[in-house]
Amino acid sequence: MSDHLIIFDTTLRDGEQSPGASMTNEEKMRIAKQLERLKVDVIEAGFPASSNGDFAAVKAIANAIKESTVCGLARANESDVRRAGEALKGAKSGRVHTFIASSPIHMQMKLRMAPDQVLEQAVKAVKWAREYADDVEFSPEDAGRSEPDFLCRLIEATIKAGANTINIPDTVGYTTPWQFGELIATLRSRIPNADKAVWSVHCHNDLGMAVANSLAAVMHGARQVECTINGLGERAGNASLEEIVMAVKTRKDVFPCASRIDTTQIVPASKLVSGITGFPVQPNKAIVGANAFSHESGIHQDGVLKHRETYEIMRAEDVGWGANKLVLGKLSGRNAFKTRLVELGIDLGSEDAVNHAFARFKELADKKGEIFDEDLHALASDEQVTPEREHYRLIALKVVSETGEVPSARVTLAAGEAEQTVQTRGDGPIDATFRAIELMAHSKARMQLYSVNAITTGTDAQGEVTVRLEVEGRIVNGLGSDTDILVASAKAYVNALNKLHSRQQRLNPQLAA
Ligand code: KIV
Ligand code: ZN
Repeated sequence: MSDHLIIFDTTLRDGEQSPGASMTNEEKMRIAKQLERLKVDVIEAGFPASSNGDFAAVKAIANAIKESTVCGLARANESDVRRAGEALKGAKSGRVHTFIASSPIHMQMKLRMAPDQVLEQAVKAVKWAREYADDVEFSPEDAGRSEPDFLCRLIEATIKAGANTINIPDTVGYTTPWQFGELIATLRSRIPNADKAVWSVHCHNDLGMAVANSLAAVMHGARQVECTINGLGERAGNASLEEIVMAVKTRKDVFPCASRIDTTQIVPASKLVSGITGFPVQPNKAIVGANAFSHESGIHQDGVLKHRETYEIMRAEDVGWGANKLVLGKLSGRNAFKTRLVELGIDLGSEDAVNHAFARFKELADKKGEIFDEDLHALASDEQVTPEREHYRLIALKVVSETGEVPSARVTLAAGEAEQTVQTRGDGPIDATFRAIELMAHSKARMQLYSVNAITTGTDAQGEVTVRLEVEGRIVNGLGSDTDILVASAKAYVNALNKLHSRQQRLNPQLAA
Protein backbone atom coordinates (compact mmCIF):
# COMPACT_ATOMS: atom_id res chain seq x y z
CA MET A 1 0.00 0.00 0.00
CA SER A 2 1.20 3.50 -0.80
CA ASP A 3 2.95 5.41 1.96
CA HIS A 4 1.86 8.73 0.44
CA LEU A 5 -1.07 10.39 2.17
CA ILE A 6 -2.98 12.48 -0.35
CA ILE A 7 -4.19 15.77 1.11
CA PHE A 8 -7.41 16.90 -0.57
CA ASP A 9 -8.37 20.41 0.45
CA THR A 10 -12.02 21.40 0.20
CA THR A 11 -11.85 24.88 1.76
CA LEU A 12 -13.08 26.42 -1.49
CA ARG A 13 -16.04 24.04 -1.77
CA ASP A 14 -17.20 22.57 1.56
CA GLY A 15 -15.60 25.47 3.44
CA GLU A 16 -17.46 27.95 1.32
CA GLN A 17 -20.77 26.18 2.08
CA SER A 18 -20.44 27.45 5.64
CA PRO A 19 -23.03 30.27 6.08
CA GLY A 20 -21.33 33.61 5.60
CA ALA A 21 -18.10 32.17 4.19
CA SER A 22 -18.73 32.96 0.55
CA MET A 23 -15.75 34.36 -1.33
CA THR A 24 -15.27 36.35 -4.50
CA ASN A 25 -13.58 34.61 -7.42
CA GLU A 26 -10.47 36.73 -6.90
CA GLU A 27 -10.33 35.67 -3.24
CA LYS A 28 -10.77 32.01 -4.25
CA MET A 29 -7.85 32.34 -6.65
CA ARG A 30 -5.62 33.77 -3.89
CA ILE A 31 -6.52 30.88 -1.62
CA ALA A 32 -5.93 28.36 -4.44
CA LYS A 33 -2.46 29.81 -5.03
CA GLN A 34 -1.68 29.52 -1.32
CA LEU A 35 -2.92 25.91 -1.32
CA GLU A 36 -0.57 25.23 -4.22
CA ARG A 37 2.32 26.75 -2.21
CA LEU A 38 1.26 24.53 0.67
CA LYS A 39 1.61 21.62 -1.78
CA VAL A 40 -1.82 20.12 -1.26
CA ASP A 41 -2.30 17.26 -3.70
CA VAL A 42 -5.89 18.09 -4.68
CA ILE A 43 -7.76 21.40 -4.49
CA GLU A 44 -11.54 21.07 -4.64
CA ALA A 45 -12.17 24.43 -6.25
CA GLY A 46 -15.97 24.53 -6.15
CA PHE A 47 -19.27 23.28 -7.49
CA PRO A 48 -19.40 24.48 -11.13
CA ALA A 49 -23.13 23.74 -11.63
CA SER A 50 -24.01 26.15 -8.83
CA SER A 51 -23.84 29.31 -10.95
CA ASN A 52 -21.95 30.91 -13.81
CA GLY A 53 -19.74 32.62 -11.23
CA ASP A 54 -18.79 29.31 -9.61
CA PHE A 55 -18.14 27.77 -13.01
CA ALA A 56 -15.84 30.70 -13.85
CA ALA A 57 -13.99 30.36 -10.54
CA VAL A 58 -13.31 26.64 -11.02
CA LYS A 59 -12.26 27.22 -14.63
CA ALA A 60 -9.86 30.05 -13.71
CA ILE A 61 -8.32 28.01 -10.91
CA ALA A 62 -8.03 24.94 -13.17
CA ASN A 63 -6.18 27.04 -15.73
CA ALA A 64 -3.84 28.70 -13.22
CA ILE A 65 -2.80 25.88 -10.90
CA LYS A 66 -0.01 23.61 -12.10
CA GLU A 67 1.34 21.82 -9.02
CA SER A 68 -1.91 20.45 -7.57
CA THR A 69 -4.81 18.55 -9.11
CA VAL A 70 -7.91 20.74 -9.42
CA CYS A 71 -11.23 19.10 -8.68
CA GLY A 72 -14.85 20.13 -9.32
CA LEU A 73 -17.86 18.71 -7.48
CA ALA A 74 -20.97 17.44 -9.28
CA ARG A 75 -24.16 15.81 -8.12
CA ALA A 76 -24.78 12.50 -9.88
CA ASN A 77 -26.73 13.95 -12.78
CA GLU A 78 -25.66 14.50 -16.35
CA SER A 79 -25.76 18.29 -16.46
CA ASP A 80 -23.79 18.73 -13.21
CA VAL A 81 -21.13 16.27 -14.31
CA ARG A 82 -20.76 17.82 -17.75
CA ARG A 83 -20.56 21.30 -16.22
CA ALA A 84 -17.77 20.15 -13.90
CA GLY A 85 -15.99 18.41 -16.78
CA GLU A 86 -16.17 21.57 -18.92
CA ALA A 87 -14.88 23.79 -16.12
CA LEU A 88 -11.84 21.55 -15.68
CA LYS A 89 -10.91 21.28 -19.34
CA GLY A 90 -7.88 23.60 -19.06
CA ALA A 91 -6.42 21.86 -16.00
CA LYS A 92 -2.97 20.31 -16.16
CA SER A 93 -4.41 17.70 -13.82
CA GLY A 94 -8.19 17.70 -13.29
CA ARG A 95 -10.57 15.53 -11.31
CA VAL A 96 -14.35 15.25 -11.41
CA HIS A 97 -15.88 14.40 -8.03
CA THR A 98 -19.43 13.09 -8.19
CA PHE A 99 -21.64 12.08 -5.28
CA ILE A 100 -25.04 10.73 -4.38
CA ALA A 101 -26.55 9.94 -1.00
CA SER A 102 -26.54 6.30 0.13
CA SER A 103 -28.03 6.27 3.64
CA PRO A 104 -31.64 5.10 4.08
CA ILE A 105 -32.70 8.47 5.52
CA HIS A 106 -31.11 10.49 2.69
CA MET A 107 -32.36 8.14 -0.05
CA GLN A 108 -35.92 8.17 1.29
CA MET A 109 -36.33 11.71 2.57
CA LYS A 110 -34.07 13.72 0.30
CA LEU A 111 -33.72 11.83 -2.97
CA ARG A 112 -36.95 9.81 -2.82
CA MET A 113 -35.12 7.08 -4.70
CA ALA A 114 -34.81 3.35 -4.14
CA PRO A 115 -31.30 1.94 -3.53
CA ASP A 116 -31.15 0.33 -6.99
CA GLN A 117 -32.01 3.66 -8.63
CA VAL A 118 -29.24 5.33 -6.63
CA LEU A 119 -26.78 2.69 -7.74
CA GLU A 120 -27.80 3.04 -11.39
CA GLN A 121 -27.49 6.85 -11.23
CA ALA A 122 -24.07 6.68 -9.54
CA VAL A 123 -22.72 4.35 -12.23
CA LYS A 124 -24.02 6.63 -14.97
CA ALA A 125 -22.48 9.68 -13.30
CA VAL A 126 -19.07 8.05 -13.03
CA LYS A 127 -19.23 7.07 -16.70
CA TRP A 128 -20.15 10.62 -17.76
CA ALA A 129 -17.29 11.92 -15.63
CA ARG A 130 -14.85 9.55 -17.29
CA GLU A 131 -15.68 11.19 -20.63
CA TYR A 132 -13.89 14.28 -19.27
CA ALA A 133 -11.20 13.00 -16.92
CA ASP A 134 -9.23 9.85 -16.17
CA ASP A 135 -9.26 10.96 -12.56
CA VAL A 136 -12.76 10.43 -11.12
CA GLU A 137 -13.82 10.38 -7.49
CA PHE A 138 -17.08 8.98 -6.21
CA SER A 139 -18.64 9.68 -2.79
CA PRO A 140 -21.62 7.87 -1.27
CA GLU A 141 -22.93 10.81 0.77
CA ASP A 142 -23.76 10.05 4.42
CA ALA A 143 -21.77 6.80 4.18
CA GLY A 144 -21.31 6.97 7.95
CA ARG A 145 -25.04 6.17 8.34
CA SER A 146 -25.35 3.88 5.31
CA GLU A 147 -25.87 0.11 5.35
CA PRO A 148 -22.53 -1.62 4.74
CA ASP A 149 -24.08 -4.21 2.37
CA PHE A 150 -25.48 -1.51 0.14
CA LEU A 151 -22.27 0.50 0.33
CA CYS A 152 -20.33 -2.55 -0.85
CA ARG A 153 -22.61 -3.03 -3.87
CA LEU A 154 -22.58 0.66 -4.73
CA ILE A 155 -18.83 1.10 -4.42
CA GLU A 156 -17.99 -2.09 -6.33
CA ALA A 157 -20.19 -0.87 -9.20
CA THR A 158 -18.72 2.64 -9.27
CA ILE A 159 -15.15 1.35 -9.26
CA LYS A 160 -16.11 -0.93 -12.15
CA ALA A 161 -17.59 2.11 -13.94
CA GLY A 162 -14.26 3.93 -13.67
CA ALA A 163 -14.00 5.71 -10.30
CA ASN A 164 -10.41 5.58 -9.08
CA THR A 165 -10.90 7.38 -5.77
CA ILE A 166 -13.64 6.25 -3.40
CA ASN A 167 -14.41 8.80 -0.73
CA ILE A 168 -16.31 7.79 2.40
CA PRO A 169 -18.00 10.83 3.93
CA ASP A 170 -19.21 11.06 7.49
CA THR A 171 -21.51 13.81 6.29
CA VAL A 172 -23.22 14.56 9.59
CA GLY A 173 -20.25 13.91 11.89
CA TYR A 174 -21.99 10.95 13.52
CA THR A 175 -19.41 8.20 13.71
CA THR A 176 -16.72 7.47 16.27
CA PRO A 177 -13.06 6.74 15.45
CA TRP A 178 -13.24 3.00 16.17
CA GLN A 179 -16.48 2.57 14.17
CA PHE A 180 -15.23 4.63 11.27
CA GLY A 181 -11.86 2.87 11.13
CA GLU A 182 -13.69 -0.45 11.12
CA LEU A 183 -16.03 0.70 8.36
CA ILE A 184 -13.03 1.46 6.13
CA ALA A 185 -11.45 -1.90 6.96
CA THR A 186 -14.73 -3.75 6.21
CA LEU A 187 -15.28 -2.02 2.89
CA ARG A 188 -11.70 -2.58 1.78
CA SER A 189 -11.80 -6.25 2.65
CA ARG A 190 -15.29 -7.05 1.33
CA ILE A 191 -15.30 -5.22 -1.99
CA PRO A 192 -13.61 -7.44 -4.59
CA ASN A 193 -12.15 -4.58 -6.67
CA ALA A 194 -11.24 -2.40 -3.64
CA ASP A 195 -7.57 -2.40 -4.62
CA LYS A 196 -8.38 -0.56 -7.88
CA ALA A 197 -9.16 2.68 -6.01
CA VAL A 198 -7.55 5.03 -3.54
CA TRP A 199 -9.61 5.13 -0.33
CA SER A 200 -10.47 8.56 0.92
CA VAL A 201 -12.37 9.97 3.90
CA HIS A 202 -14.31 13.18 4.45
CA CYS A 203 -15.33 13.78 8.05
CA HIS A 204 -17.46 16.51 9.58
CA ASN A 205 -16.89 17.74 13.09
CA ASP A 206 -20.36 17.79 14.68
CA LEU A 207 -19.18 15.74 17.66
CA GLY A 208 -15.64 17.11 17.57
CA MET A 209 -14.25 13.87 16.12
CA ALA A 210 -13.55 14.75 12.49
CA VAL A 211 -9.78 14.63 12.83
CA ALA A 212 -9.81 11.51 15.02
CA ASN A 213 -12.17 9.74 12.62
CA SER A 214 -10.01 10.66 9.62
CA LEU A 215 -6.85 9.42 11.35
CA ALA A 216 -8.55 6.17 12.40
CA ALA A 217 -9.41 5.65 8.74
CA VAL A 218 -5.78 6.27 7.77
CA MET A 219 -4.77 3.52 10.19
CA HIS A 220 -7.15 1.21 8.28
CA GLY A 221 -5.86 2.00 4.83
CA ALA A 222 -7.34 5.35 3.77
CA ARG A 223 -4.73 7.20 1.73
CA GLN A 224 -6.58 10.41 1.02
CA VAL A 225 -7.99 12.75 3.64
CA GLU A 226 -10.40 15.53 2.73
CA CYS A 227 -9.99 18.52 4.98
CA THR A 228 -10.08 22.30 5.16
CA ILE A 229 -7.87 25.10 6.43
CA ASN A 230 -8.86 26.02 10.01
CA GLY A 231 -11.48 23.23 9.87
CA LEU A 232 -13.84 25.56 8.00
CA GLY A 233 -16.98 23.89 6.67
CA GLU A 234 -20.68 23.22 7.04
CA ARG A 235 -21.98 23.49 10.64
CA ALA A 236 -19.11 22.51 12.97
CA GLY A 237 -16.79 22.24 10.01
CA ASN A 238 -14.60 19.62 8.36
CA ALA A 239 -11.48 17.88 9.60
CA SER A 240 -8.81 20.52 9.86
CA LEU A 241 -5.93 20.19 7.42
CA GLU A 242 -3.32 21.52 9.81
CA GLU A 243 -4.24 19.00 12.52
CA ILE A 244 -4.25 16.03 10.13
CA VAL A 245 -0.94 17.00 8.55
CA MET A 246 0.86 17.75 11.81
CA ALA A 247 -0.48 14.62 13.54
CA VAL A 248 0.87 12.43 10.76
CA LYS A 249 4.18 14.32 10.68
CA THR A 250 4.69 14.51 14.44
CA ARG A 251 3.67 10.89 15.06
CA LYS A 252 5.67 9.23 12.30
CA ASP A 253 6.08 6.35 14.73
CA VAL A 254 2.32 5.68 14.55
CA PHE A 255 1.20 6.51 11.03
CA PRO A 256 2.37 4.36 8.13
CA CYS A 257 2.36 7.24 5.62
CA ALA A 258 3.42 10.86 5.09
CA SER A 259 2.03 13.86 3.23
CA ARG A 260 4.04 16.13 0.93
CA ILE A 261 2.71 19.32 2.57
CA ASP A 262 5.14 22.22 3.05
CA THR A 263 4.18 22.74 6.68
CA THR A 264 5.83 26.18 6.85
CA GLN A 265 2.95 27.43 4.69
CA ILE A 266 0.28 26.34 7.19
CA VAL A 267 0.04 29.52 9.29
CA PRO A 268 0.07 31.85 6.25
CA ALA A 269 -2.75 29.71 4.77
CA SER A 270 -4.70 29.86 8.02
CA LYS A 271 -4.38 33.65 8.22
CA LEU A 272 -5.36 34.08 4.60
CA VAL A 273 -8.50 31.94 4.91
CA SER A 274 -9.52 33.55 8.17
CA GLY A 275 -8.90 37.04 6.75
CA ILE A 276 -10.90 36.39 3.60
CA THR A 277 -13.84 34.55 5.13
CA GLY A 278 -14.05 36.54 8.34
CA PHE A 279 -14.04 33.37 10.45
CA PRO A 280 -11.60 34.15 13.27
CA VAL A 281 -9.36 31.38 14.59
CA GLN A 282 -9.88 30.64 18.27
CA PRO A 283 -6.68 31.42 20.26
CA ASN A 284 -6.40 27.89 21.64
CA LYS A 285 -6.94 26.17 18.27
CA ALA A 286 -4.31 23.48 17.69
CA ILE A 287 -1.41 24.47 15.41
CA VAL A 288 -2.81 27.78 14.12
CA GLY A 289 -4.32 29.40 17.23
CA ALA A 290 -2.41 32.39 18.60
CA ASN A 291 -1.73 30.49 21.85
CA ALA A 292 -0.80 27.17 20.25
CA PHE A 293 2.90 27.73 20.89
CA SER A 294 2.92 30.25 23.71
CA HIS A 295 3.87 29.22 27.20
CA GLU A 296 2.28 31.42 29.82
CA SER A 297 3.47 29.90 33.07
CA GLY A 298 6.94 30.74 34.32
CA ILE A 299 7.68 27.10 35.11
CA HIS A 300 6.87 26.03 31.58
CA GLN A 301 8.91 28.83 30.08
CA ASP A 302 11.91 27.84 32.14
CA GLY A 303 11.52 24.24 30.96
CA VAL A 304 11.14 25.26 27.34
CA LEU A 305 14.18 27.52 27.46
CA LYS A 306 16.37 24.82 29.01
CA HIS A 307 15.20 22.05 26.75
CA ARG A 308 12.66 22.70 24.08
CA GLU A 309 11.04 19.25 24.02
CA THR A 310 9.98 19.58 27.69
CA TYR A 311 6.72 21.18 26.62
CA GLU A 312 6.85 21.35 22.84
CA ILE A 313 6.14 18.46 20.51
CA MET A 314 6.35 20.65 17.38
CA ARG A 315 8.37 23.73 16.49
CA ALA A 316 6.42 26.92 15.85
CA GLU A 317 8.63 27.77 12.87
CA ASP A 318 7.90 24.39 11.25
CA VAL A 319 4.23 25.34 10.85
CA GLY A 320 5.00 28.85 9.67
CA TRP A 321 4.79 30.97 12.81
CA GLY A 322 7.12 33.90 12.29
CA ALA A 323 7.15 33.20 8.56
CA ASN A 324 5.20 36.35 7.79
CA LYS A 325 7.99 38.13 6.08
CA LEU A 326 8.64 41.79 6.52
CA VAL A 327 8.28 42.38 2.84
CA LEU A 328 8.02 46.06 2.24
CA GLY A 329 8.49 49.37 3.95
CA LYS A 330 8.08 53.09 3.44
CA LEU A 331 10.86 53.25 0.89
CA SER A 332 9.76 50.31 -1.23
CA GLY A 333 9.02 51.19 -4.82
CA ARG A 334 6.19 50.26 -7.13
CA ASN A 335 8.19 47.41 -8.68
CA ALA A 336 8.88 45.72 -5.35
CA PHE A 337 5.23 46.18 -4.44
CA LYS A 338 4.00 44.67 -7.70
CA THR A 339 6.47 41.77 -7.54
CA ARG A 340 5.25 40.79 -4.08
CA LEU A 341 1.61 40.96 -5.21
CA VAL A 342 2.43 38.56 -8.04
CA GLU A 343 4.29 36.23 -5.66
CA LEU A 344 1.24 36.16 -3.41
CA GLY A 345 -1.07 35.42 -6.34
CA ILE A 346 -2.84 38.77 -5.98
CA ASP A 347 -4.19 39.92 -9.33
CA LEU A 348 -5.70 43.38 -9.15
CA GLY A 349 -6.85 43.20 -12.74
CA SER A 350 -5.37 46.37 -14.28
CA GLU A 351 -2.41 48.73 -14.08
CA ASP A 352 -4.78 51.45 -12.82
CA ALA A 353 -5.80 49.22 -9.94
CA VAL A 354 -2.13 48.50 -9.14
CA ASN A 355 -1.41 52.25 -9.13
CA HIS A 356 -4.35 52.89 -6.85
CA ALA A 357 -3.30 50.08 -4.51
CA PHE A 358 0.27 51.36 -4.52
CA ALA A 359 -0.90 54.80 -3.41
CA ARG A 360 -2.85 53.17 -0.57
CA PHE A 361 0.17 51.03 0.30
CA LYS A 362 2.27 54.20 0.66
CA GLU A 363 -0.34 55.74 2.96
CA LEU A 364 -0.36 52.58 5.06
CA ALA A 365 3.43 52.38 5.16
CA ASP A 366 3.49 55.98 6.39
CA LYS A 367 1.17 55.02 9.23
CA LYS A 368 2.73 51.73 10.28
CA GLY A 369 6.20 51.57 8.74
CA GLU A 370 6.44 47.83 8.22
CA ILE A 371 4.18 46.04 5.79
CA PHE A 372 3.63 42.28 6.01
CA ASP A 373 2.04 39.81 3.60
CA GLU A 374 -1.16 39.91 5.68
CA ASP A 375 -1.36 43.68 5.15
CA LEU A 376 -1.07 43.19 1.40
CA HIS A 377 -3.89 40.62 1.42
CA ALA A 378 -6.09 43.02 3.40
CA LEU A 379 -5.24 45.78 0.95
CA ALA A 380 -6.14 43.51 -1.97
CA SER A 381 -9.53 42.74 -0.40
CA ASP A 382 -10.15 46.46 0.06
CA GLU A 383 -9.27 47.11 -3.58
CA GLN A 384 -12.33 45.07 -4.57
CA VAL A 385 -14.42 47.94 -3.19
CA THR A 386 -15.25 49.90 -6.33
CA PRO A 387 -18.39 51.84 -7.28
CA GLU A 388 -19.15 49.25 -10.02
CA ARG A 389 -19.09 46.37 -7.58
CA GLU A 390 -20.37 47.91 -4.37
CA HIS A 391 -23.76 49.57 -3.92
CA TYR A 392 -22.81 51.11 -0.56
CA ARG A 393 -19.54 52.93 -0.01
CA LEU A 394 -18.23 54.54 3.15
CA ILE A 395 -17.30 58.12 2.29
CA ALA A 396 -16.52 59.62 5.70
CA LEU A 397 -16.72 58.84 9.39
CA LYS A 398 -16.38 61.04 12.45
CA VAL A 399 -16.75 59.50 15.90
CA VAL A 400 -16.75 61.33 19.21
CA SER A 401 -16.18 59.31 22.35
CA GLU A 402 -15.33 60.81 25.72
CA THR A 403 -15.49 59.61 29.32
CA GLY A 404 -18.85 60.51 30.83
CA GLU A 405 -20.40 61.50 27.47
CA VAL A 406 -22.74 59.56 25.17
CA PRO A 407 -20.70 58.60 22.09
CA SER A 408 -21.86 59.84 18.71
CA ALA A 409 -20.99 59.13 15.09
CA ARG A 410 -21.44 61.04 11.88
CA VAL A 411 -21.33 58.86 8.79
CA THR A 412 -21.47 59.77 5.11
CA LEU A 413 -22.55 56.84 2.99
CA ALA A 414 -22.99 56.54 -0.77
CA ALA A 415 -25.81 54.28 -1.92
CA GLY A 416 -25.51 53.97 -5.68
CA GLU A 417 -25.24 57.54 -6.96
CA ALA A 418 -26.77 59.18 -3.86
CA GLU A 419 -24.79 60.38 -0.87
CA GLN A 420 -26.25 60.95 2.56
CA THR A 421 -24.90 62.00 5.95
CA VAL A 422 -26.42 61.03 9.29
CA GLN A 423 -25.33 61.77 12.84
CA THR A 424 -26.56 59.74 15.78
CA ARG A 425 -25.68 58.55 19.27
CA GLY A 426 -25.15 55.03 20.59
CA ASP A 427 -24.17 52.89 23.58
CA GLY A 428 -20.59 53.02 22.40
CA PRO A 429 -18.68 54.46 19.43
CA ILE A 430 -19.18 51.31 17.35
CA ASP A 431 -22.88 51.10 18.19
CA ALA A 432 -23.27 54.76 17.18
CA THR A 433 -21.46 54.10 13.88
CA PHE A 434 -23.59 51.08 13.02
CA ARG A 435 -26.80 52.89 13.98
CA ALA A 436 -25.91 55.79 11.71
CA ILE A 437 -25.26 53.42 8.79
CA GLU A 438 -28.55 51.59 9.47
CA LEU A 439 -30.50 54.85 9.53
CA MET A 440 -29.45 55.23 5.89
CA ALA A 441 -29.42 51.61 4.66
CA HIS A 442 -32.58 50.29 6.44
CA SER A 443 -31.35 46.70 6.00
CA LYS A 444 -33.26 45.37 9.05
CA ALA A 445 -30.30 43.04 9.52
CA ARG A 446 -29.59 41.37 12.84
CA MET A 447 -25.95 41.39 13.89
CA GLN A 448 -24.82 37.88 14.81
CA LEU A 449 -21.16 38.50 15.38
CA TYR A 450 -18.70 41.34 15.74
CA SER A 451 -15.01 40.63 16.14
CA VAL A 452 -11.75 42.56 15.93
CA ASN A 453 -8.37 40.98 15.34
CA ALA A 454 -4.97 42.49 14.81
CA ILE A 455 -3.74 41.44 11.36
CA THR A 456 -0.11 41.42 12.47
CA THR A 457 1.55 41.95 15.82
CA GLY A 458 2.33 45.33 17.38
CA THR A 459 0.17 48.22 18.50
CA ASP A 460 0.48 49.85 15.06
CA ALA A 461 -1.04 46.76 13.41
CA GLN A 462 -4.11 47.06 11.24
CA GLY A 463 -7.33 45.98 12.91
CA GLU A 464 -9.40 43.52 10.96
CA VAL A 465 -13.09 43.54 11.80
CA THR A 466 -15.71 40.93 10.97
CA VAL A 467 -19.42 41.76 11.11
CA ARG A 468 -21.89 38.93 10.54
CA LEU A 469 -25.37 40.06 9.51
CA GLU A 470 -28.51 38.00 9.10
CA VAL A 471 -31.69 38.88 7.23
CA GLU A 472 -34.48 36.32 6.84
CA GLY A 473 -32.10 33.40 7.31
CA ARG A 474 -29.50 34.72 4.89
CA ILE A 475 -26.13 35.17 6.58
CA VAL A 476 -23.20 37.22 5.31
CA ASN A 477 -19.82 38.12 6.76
CA GLY A 478 -18.52 41.62 6.15
CA LEU A 479 -14.83 42.42 6.54
CA GLY A 480 -12.95 45.65 6.95
CA SER A 481 -9.39 46.52 7.82
CA ASP A 482 -7.73 49.77 8.82
CA THR A 483 -5.22 51.04 11.35
CA ASP A 484 -8.25 52.74 12.96
CA ILE A 485 -10.61 50.04 14.23
CA LEU A 486 -13.64 52.36 14.08
CA VAL A 487 -13.05 52.86 10.38
CA ALA A 488 -12.41 49.11 10.00
CA SER A 489 -15.74 48.44 11.78
CA ALA A 490 -17.66 50.80 9.51
CA LYS A 491 -16.02 49.26 6.43
CA ALA A 492 -16.93 45.77 7.66
CA TYR A 493 -20.57 46.74 8.23
CA VAL A 494 -20.78 48.33 4.78
CA ASN A 495 -19.11 45.28 3.22
CA ALA A 496 -21.75 43.03 4.81
CA LEU A 497 -24.54 45.30 3.52
CA ASN A 498 -23.10 45.03 0.02
CA LYS A 499 -23.12 41.26 0.23
CA LEU A 500 -26.76 41.34 1.32
CA HIS A 501 -27.53 43.79 -1.47
CA SER A 502 -25.88 41.68 -4.19
CA ARG A 503 -28.53 38.99 -3.55
CA GLN A 504 -26.19 36.52 -5.19
CA GLN A 505 -27.68 33.13 -4.36
CA ARG A 506 -25.54 30.06 -4.17
CA LEU A 507 -26.76 26.52 -4.58
CA ASN A 508 -25.76 24.10 -1.85
CA PRO A 509 -24.91 20.85 -3.69
CA GLN A 510 -26.04 18.71 -0.79
CA LEU A 511 -29.30 20.48 0.00
CA ALA A 512 -30.50 21.18 -3.54
CA ALA A 513 -32.66 18.35 -4.88
O1 KIV B 1 -20.13 15.98 3.59
C1 KIV B 1 -20.31 15.40 2.50
O2 KIV B 1 -20.88 14.32 2.39
C2 KIV B 1 -19.83 16.08 1.31
C3 KIV B 1 -19.89 15.32 0.03
C4 KIV B 1 -20.39 16.15 -1.10
C5 KIV B 1 -18.57 14.69 -0.25
O3 KIV B 1 -19.37 17.19 1.38
ZN1 ZN C 1 -18.84 17.70 3.48
